[in-house]
Parts: sequence; C-alpha cells; structure tokens
Amino acid sequence: MAESRRQPDRKSRLHKTDLEYKFVGKFIVLDGPDGCGKSTQARLFAEWLDRQGIATLQLRDPGDTVIGEQIRGILLRPEHVVMDTRTELLLYMAARAQLWAEKMGPALADGKCVVLDRWLSSTCAYQGYAGEFGMDKVIRIAEDCLERVWPDLTIILDVNLETASRRLKRELDRMEQKGDGYHEKVRQGFLELARLREGFFVVDASGDIETVHKRVLDVIVQWGSA
Ligand code: TMP
Repeated sequence: MAESRRQPDRKSRLHKTDLEYKFVGKFIVLDGPDGCGKSTQARLFAEWLDRQGIATLQLRDPGDTVIGEQIRGILLRPEHVVMDTRTELLLYMAARAQLWAEKMGPALADGKCVVLDRWLSSTCAYQGYAGEFGMDKVIRIAEDCLERVWPDLTIILDVNLETASRRLKRELDRMEQKGDGYHEKVRQGFLELARLREGFFVVDASGDIETVHKRVLDVIVQWGSA
C-alpha cells in the first residue's frame, strides 16, 4: 500500500485524537502459517487505519526494498531445495535489517503506523521451532542484528493445516513445499511464541475474509484502549 494521509470520515473525526494517540508511531505485525490470510488481513487493517486518517505504511517481510526482494527471490525459489536452515535464518534477518534501514526506521520516526506482513515471529516459528535451530537462539541473533526486535503488537492468525492448504491453490514456493509435518510445527511455534511473549494475540483465522477482519479489528481496538 502506498504511504497515505487521507481526510478521516465524520465518524472517525470524532475519535481522531484517541486513535492518533493509539496508533501514531506504532509498529504492528500480522503473522501466521502459510495460508492463514495475513497478507489480505494486513492490507485490510492498513486500509482501515488509512480511513481513520492515520498515516500508515504497509510492508512485507522479506521484501519491499530492492535488496530485500532479491533476497526473497533466493529464499523462495523452489530449485534452492538444498538451502540450510542457518542460511535461511541469516537471509531473512538480512532482508529485515535492510527493510528497517530504508523504510521502517524513517517511517516510525516520522510518526507513521507501520503495518508488517510477517516479522521476526516468522523466523522464530519457521527456522527456530520447525527448523529446530531454537527460538531463543533466533532471538539472540536478532538482538545483535536488528535495530528493533519486537513490535508494539503482533497478531498471530491461527489456522489448521487443512484450511491453510485449501487456501494455497497456486504453485507453492520453496518454504510452502516443506510438507505437512514441518508446517504443523510452524503453527505450534507461533502458538508457543504467543504464549511466551507480551504483546502477542492469537486470532482464529478460519472463516471468511470479513469475519477474520472483524476479529482482527476487535483485538486491535481493545489493545489500543488498554
Ligand atoms: P510470505 O509469502 O508469507 O511473504 O512468506 C514467505 C515465506 O517465507 C513463507 O513460507 C514463510 C517464510 N518465512 C520464514 O521461513 N522465515 C521468516 O523469517 C519469514 C519472514 C518468512
């Protein structure tokens, strides 16, 4: 989504000060297993913020810089089947460091609300938990590599394997091709991380797009009011 600051509608104007207080300069992540619908939900949430008149920047991790998109290509190309978990981990971290330097850091400093499609929570669940590198070790590396490790809020969109595979009706990339055992562990990794960390909320991502969008907004608005 392009950077934006639209005029809020009348209803939102009434709450503009509250909402600005809640979301200005905040870093919010939507994450979860492949097929959970997080890209669609991140877009809908960013559009909702936009309608409230809050300057928003929506990004995907890995990607959204020239370097990050090239790293993404290396990571996801199905023919790179021999890639080691450690290589994956370092490439995801490299793309993230670049995204921070070029886009996220400046946007947050500018008071924008930055909405991310995936972040470190994915590295914890995929490489740390499913790839058995260890979530603690992933976090230690992140602490050394990243300017900022944890978002203000992370929404984990939880979905079972059956629903997720039904939604992935296209050619699968290298990570998506890793098989059911791996992806079941990815799901457990996300749930484990959400149990362990502050600022994580799990949302049931089964159901249609609008239903899940409402569940996401309920959690976010409640979080903002705390
Ligand atoms: P995406 O298509 O949802 O943007 O994500 C690309 C793939 O990369 C997806 O299968 C999840 C995986 N991934 C990791 O394994 N580790 C990470 O740190 C991230 C951000 C994504």
